[in-house]
Amino acid sequence: ADTVFTLNTGAKIPALGLGTWQSAPGEVSAAVAHAIKTGYRHIDCAWCYGNEDEVGQGIKEGLEATGLKRSDLFITTKLWCTYHTRVEENLDLSLKSLGLEYVDLYLMHWPVAMNPNGNDPKFPKKPDGSRDLDLERKPAATYKEMEKLLQTGKVKAIGVSNFSKKFLEQLLSVVDVVPAANQIENHPLLPQQEIVDFCTEKGIIVEAYSPLGSTGSPLLKNESVTKVAEETGVSPGTALLSYHVARGVLALPKSVTPARIEQNFNVVKLTSEQLSALESVSKAGTQRIVYPQFGINFGFPDKDYGAPHSAA
Ligand code: A2P
Repeated sequence: ADTVFTLNTGAKIPALGLGTWQSAPGEVSAAVAHAIKTGYRHIDCAWCYGNEDEVGQGIKEGLEATGLKRSDLFITTKLWCTYHTRVEENLDLSLKSLGLEYVDLYLMHWPVAMNPNGNDPKFPKKPDGSRDLDLERKPAATYKEMEKLLQTGKVKAIGVSNFSKKFLEQLLSVVDVVPAANQIENHPLLPQQEIVDFCTEKGIIVEAYSPLGSTGSPLLKNESVTKVAEETGVSPGTALLSYHVARGVLALPKSVTPARIEQNFNVVKLTSEQLSALESVSKAGTQRIVYPQFGINFGFPDKDYGAPHSAA
């Protein structure tokens, strides 16, 4: 788990980070502190997860317990959809909650803006129940505001999340700073090879969210996965994380369970046979777990989500 990747800014990023989505307040600060004590140096957060205060406490506890400095950690957070027209305001809220002066990476959480004055601060809906989106606001305009943050010292690098290849192409055609990373759902049931290849070619690090297949993952019982786990002497979860690192994809497993946090850190090297065994899992069909429930099309090839949208 000492593997590090290099961002297009030149900064190093640990190939394994702790995910904090769906980590409940009351549990997440202990999980973050435990992860840092275990050896994790990378924590993935988001304003929308609603737990950044506690994540911040966990970071503080972890640093105190280990004697490490802030600069020894890599912290990412994400701009939420209702803040696309108020980018720096949302960053400041995250920094305040996290108790940090800067983040190492700031990502656009989804390539779509939502009405900032909607009925719900996180997921505003229209009276008919559909998402209250602001389709006039293009992701590229928001990204250009994120570029300006690089001058403030409050973010060391910027990137995106949930961008298809099509959206990345559109974005790259109009922006100045190539995103340092694209965080997408990724696991053997949704390898998204086309995006991974495109990002590799452009020098964009791919970060896997739900790297284990999320809560109740069918992958943990998958025959190919358990076979590789047995062969390498690790748990199925660790075998899955090893798959990501072997293909050059950064993995962000979420756990609030101390034993799993420790287990997940023991990424092992896979042989090419073991890697192809895990790559063949998707041959029977792909499975997206986190559906973008926005009612619009983000340009992913596996499903037509609805009305067309564009990044630029
Ligand atoms: P918990 O947080 O209760 O430990 P993903 O990172 O793909 O979203 O998956 C997160 C889910 O997988 C959570 O429910 C988490 O549970 C569980 N989990 C995390 N690590 C492991 C592991 N090594 N083995 C089995 N389940 C795990």
